[in-house]
Amino acid sequence: MPRPTDPAASPPTPPAATPRPPAPLPITINGKFYDHDGDPAMPLLWFLRDRLRLTGTKYGCDGGECGACSVLVDDKLVRACTLPMAAASGHRVTTIEGLAGDDLHPLQQAWIESDAIQCGYCQSGQILAAVDLLRRKPRPGEDDLAAIANLCRCGSQPQLRRAIARAAAILRGERK
Ligand code: FES
Ligand code: FES
Repeated sequence: MPRPTDPAASPPTPPAATPRPPAPLPITINGKFYDHDGDPAMPLLWFLRDRLRLTGTKYGCDGGECGACSVLVDDKLVRACTLPMAAASGHRVTTIEGLAGDDLHPLQQAWIESDAIQCGYCQSGQILAAVDLLRRKPRPGEDDLAAIANLCRCGSQPQLRRAIARAAAILRGERK
């Protein structure tokens, strides 16, 4: 006949392991250091807008198509809506708020002088796309200007192209 189990003789059940929180993700934004201690899959766009209140970076299609959320990551153009914080971590991000120094960036100056802005929603992304273009092509041709894929529902592309050409000339020292 089996003997009843003596509860005192059973080994104690170990407590359920407490899940460890994810390690903070370091990131540099406009020259300042931050740690993200939330979901590593969260898009960079939400960190910028909701955590840092850098609302110059806009929410548009949320699918990597429109370019309203464009930022620079290590000087390369990136759609912030599709970049998870885990991938952005360890990199250097520049948003529209971090573009100007003591003076406006030449593109911002050219934007004003060319009267390029209509509703304005796409414009911070357009300027950062232009920064990326002029870094790669200091003397952009019509094809380069046409290749900027950021959308503008106001149809301001002709003014935007004029503004980029103007800024390119300022950056080359050919005009003030
Ligand atoms: S909101 Fe990111 S590409 Fe449209
Ligand atoms: S200026 Fe309105 S969407 Fe581009």
